[in-house]
Amino acid sequence: MSKAHLRFPSDFVWGVATASYQIEGAVSEDGRGPSIWDTFSAAPGTVEGGATGEVACDHYHRWEQDLDLMQSLGVNGYRFSVAWPRVIPSGTGTINEAGLDFYDRLVDGLLERGIAPFATLYHWDLPQPLQDAGGWPDRTTADAFVAYADAVTRRLGDRVAAYATMNEPWCAAFLGYAFGHHAPGLRDPKLALQAAHHLLLAHGAALEPMRANAPGAQHGIVLDFNAITPATDAPVDAAAAKRFDGFRNRWFLEPVLLGRYPADAHEGYGELAPRIEDGDLEVIARPIDFLGVNYYTRTIVADDPEVPHLAARTVPFEGPTTEMGWEVYPQGLTDLLLRLQREYRAPPLFVTENGAAYADELKDGAVADVERVAYFEQHIAAVHAAIEGGTDVRGYFAWSLMDNFEWAFGFNKRFGLVYVDFETQERVPKRSAGWYAELIREQRPAAPLERA
Ligand code: FCB
Repeated sequence: MSKAHLRFPSDFVWGVATASYQIEGAVSEDGRGPSIWDTFSAAPGTVEGGATGEVACDHYHRWEQDLDLMQSLGVNGYRFSVAWPRVIPSGTGTINEAGLDFYDRLVDGLLERGIAPFATLYHWDLPQPLQDAGGWPDRTTADAFVAYADAVTRRLGDRVAAYATMNEPWCAAFLGYAFGHHAPGLRDPKLALQAAHHLLLAHGAALEPMRANAPGAQHGIVLDFNAITPATDAPVDAAAAKRFDGFRNRWFLEPVLLGRYPADAHEGYGELAPRIEDGDLEVIARPIDFLGVNYYTRTIVADDPEVPHLAARTVPFEGPTTEMGWEVYPQGLTDLLLRLQREYRAPPLFVTENGAAYADELKDGAVADVERVAYFEQHIAAVHAAIEGGTDVRGYFAWSLMDNFEWAFGFNKRFGLVYVDFETQERVPKRSAGWYAELIREQRPAAPLERA
């Protein structure tokens, strides 16, 4: 960058993010039960190349080395997720202390290295027995989540700086239950909307035991946002963009922050709308200490009367894309953060994920991922612009620490700052890792020396 002229607050959290199923492997060790991702990825035709998370980055065995890697980058925050099937293998009932031990050691290892733990409780690896009993469309899954959240926070307590209940409930509900791209691979929009409601309900209900067990930690949720632009100035396109925003963004944001579902989207869903019991929205809207914002790209939307409320006609864009085919659109991140502040009076924000996949090549022991460096530069500058505009953004977590199991894309999409050779498990920091480390050093010159 231009790093020198962008000054972030001195207590800003510079972090990296991962998720349990994407990195841990060791799927049947120390009492872990099966998750919906084990089942889904084992089914033919679901994941590119027939990949699974059985080994992934083998982080379960290499976690100390991975923490050292983080320390060498100079990050002061690490966002990881806890695997529910390690903690309560059957989804409900007996707590598997051996599963909790892993996160206990991880958290202590982070603290020893001066890195604040940011734990996400649900990043999509639902215990398979809960799916067999109906999964998220079944209300009792929310009760099971509360017991699980209680078990984790009881053990890890205030050693964790911040807990997020859910990661991207939109993806969990719609990619999993409406579009079939993610586990459990169902294609039923009504189920998806019911799943979405129970994910939100589980979030709100879990806040109670979480706060009781970890009163000194921050508690919140991580939502994914898509920047949405109408294709033209025509009012019909603006209306289409508003509809898509209702589906993609407001359906999750508004119940959490405002205690109501957006009326336009609710009406549009008609008989697909979920069953909501009295008092649910009060639970969902319980106060949170922070909102986690995941941002990657935008969608340009045009009107199409044929397209239902759960979709939009998208318009191709010009300009750079990542390996995911996603447009590089940093302005969308500034706009989003400002909007959250101005329209929603959002609580303090963390950018909990942002990053890009590129077709990295390891040449002579190095990866010159200049496009990823540019992506990070532009998006971190975009965060800075939002802070300048008055938004309270407290941290930024690059997705991801290292290349990992990218869900339905298997190992074919690399998002890491660190290259992973999945044959040998060798880790090679890419140029972007060096760039990020330098940025952090410039931003935190007075940071205390890490404890050895
Ligand atoms: C997000 C997920 C994360 C990762 C990135 C690329 O939707 O939360 O696990 O797959 O996308």
